[in-house]
Amino acid sequence: MQDVVQWLKDNGNLKIIDAPLDVELEIPHVAYIEVKKDHSRPLLFTNPINKAKGITYEMPVLMNIFANQALTEKIFGRHPDVLAQGIDELLKLKAPKGLRAKLAMIPKLFSLKNVFPKRLRFKGECQEVIIPKEQVDLDRLPILKTWEGDGGPFITMGQVYTQSLDGEMQNLGMYRLQQHDKKSLGMHWQIHKDASHFFDQYQKVGKKMPVTVAIGGDPLYIWCGQAPMPHGMFEMLLYGFVRNKNAQLVKSITNDIYIPRDVDIVIEGFVDPEAMRIEGPFGDHTGYYTLQEPFPVLSVETITMKKKPVFAATVVGKPPLEDKYMGWATERIFLPMLKPMAPDLIDYRMPENGVFHNLIIAKMKTLYPGHAQQFMHAFWGVGQMSFVKHALFVGEDAPALQESEALTRYILNRLDASKVLITQGILDHLDHSSSKQFVGGKLGVDATGEPVEEGVESVLEDAELLAKIQAISPRVTALKQYMTDTKTPLCIIAVEKVKSQHKLIKKLKVLKSHIKLLVIVDAANNDLDEPYMLLWRVVNNIDAQRDVLLEPFIAIDATHKTEVDGFMREWPGDTFCTKEVLERLQEKGIIYIDETFIKKFGLLPF
Ligand SMILES: Cc1cc2nc3c(=O)[nH]c(=O)nc-3n(C[C@H](O)[C@H](O)[C@H](O)COP(=O)(O)O)c2cc1C
Repeated sequence: MQDVVQWLKDNGNLKIIDAPLDVELEIPHVAYIEVKKDHSRPLLFTNPINKAKGITYEMPVLMNIFANQALTEKIFGRHPDVLAQGIDELLKLKAPKGLRAKLAMIPKLFSLKNVFPKRLRFKGECQEVIIPKEQVDLDRLPILKTWEGDGGPFITMGQVYTQSLDGEMQNLGMYRLQQHDKKSLGMHWQIHKDASHFFDQYQKVGKKMPVTVAIGGDPLYIWCGQAPMPHGMFEMLLYGFVRNKNAQLVKSITNDIYIPRDVDIVIEGFVDPEAMRIEGPFGDHTGYYTLQEPFPVLSVETITMKKKPVFAATVVGKPPLEDKYMGWATERIFLPMLKPMAPDLIDYRMPENGVFHNLIIAKMKTLYPGHAQQFMHAFWGVGQMSFVKHALFVGEDAPALQESEALTRYILNRLDASKVLITQGILDHLDHSSSKQFVGGKLGVDATGEPVEEGVESVLEDAELLAKIQAISPRVTALKQYMTDTKTPLCIIAVEKVKSQHKLIKKLKVLKSHIKLLVIVDAANNDLDEPYMLLWRVVNNIDAQRDVLLEPFIAIDATHKTEVDGFMREWPGDTFCTKEVLERLQEKGIIYIDETFIKKFGLLPF
């Protein structure tokens, strides 16, 4: 990572912050704010400290490595679309006809030899320093505590290397790791993920599971860790494909797991299949806290590192953050892999303010009735795509998927209750909206085809419509309409919620001639003038089976849920910055933000 630091200085406009800053809240807050700015930069904190524990760390903390799109592209060495094209060509590989075609294929096949990782017989640079078990002390690493409500410090960019019980399959997954104490880490591999499946195998036979966690090295390892590769495919194959260079792996010192030779820090250990421990809470990439839950624990056997390691970390919370850019590359590179099951798919987008799996917008060529529904089911049935809660399909004549406004207008002109599919399926482990964890509502919208014939009968001014609604329920505090020039204007209202919103929706039937699409949010912490954060809120908070009504108009209840909604789980809170920390950082001249910025990104409660 020292090379990466130099590379970021030369290519990424790296910002170096020498002021001593605390790993608890201060450093994470600086990184959180930086990546929300236009032209955001990677950050190197050269003097991390921990005031509460009285520690001055020996290694710097590198954050926002994927600080923006241009930098992400440079890390890949090519635009992700170019890589996607390469994958597409491989998937379509046909036996060549004729000598010329055969010759043209040779370089392609030859480059494939670089895909497979190489196992080296010697030690790696990551093993220059070896800390034996008795001297292991995780407090020596500048592990960050991001949010005030977090259950402790978490390693946020750990590459978790595991293997199946029979050693046949290897896996790299990026999972957060809670520092429980000086020698153990909580393994937050979620129930659907590969390492969790491996863990099940070890648990069944009561055998300790070897795990090695790596930090740092080529930033592409980090990206590979989060890439949704099919089960059984080692992410290092993808690394080899992107870099056109075999990943070079060395054996861990105390177990048989292989890790890249050039990572900065390596934490080796075993997970006892019987010993679970409460993990969390943790302010997650949904922008909400994930609640406490038991997860396996890694007992650390040894830590190895380079002589001059750099500690890589990220911050997750409300969008936009670094995962926006990692997710963008993933979205582009995985497009060709979706096509075999959905051949008429043209393009798709999973916007970061839809928290990726909460919203997909896909463009397709429709060939027959029900084609969009067929794609919905295909998506909901395959790999991590099955976590998607809300899937909107548009036709090939739709604007480019990046043109959010034009695209929304296109959808609103085609939105029709008869083309809305509400069903049930598996949900991301982190989803908080469904009444039962892991399973809940799915919403599919077929917005392909011609615009609907009937639009809203008459559009009222916001103030007039609000007055009419308030006459029905004084708990409605604000209203804003978007895209009133479309067939289906979007009317969003804020409420002081005390009871189920279904009752309000029923009462609003009398306003059917003025409303075709209604969205309800809580009055607290929602600004009706900020569509970016509203979308984030709405797709997070709804379970379509419970919260989307198709009568008397399409209505979406995106308020927080309680017993009045039959919701008996705990509803988590938002990730908010700590006001005093923001003020302190402003005073020190480390950050510069104003009230507009704070409100725009929901940094503090309002
Ligand atoms: C910053 C970041 C943090 C993540 N944290 C977790 C986590 O704690 N647990 C988890 O299961 N997935 C987490 N993920 C998502 C996984 O990395 C992703 O689903 C990956 O494809 C899992 O790999 P696997 O299918 O090999 O298990 C995270 C992703 C990112 C970008």
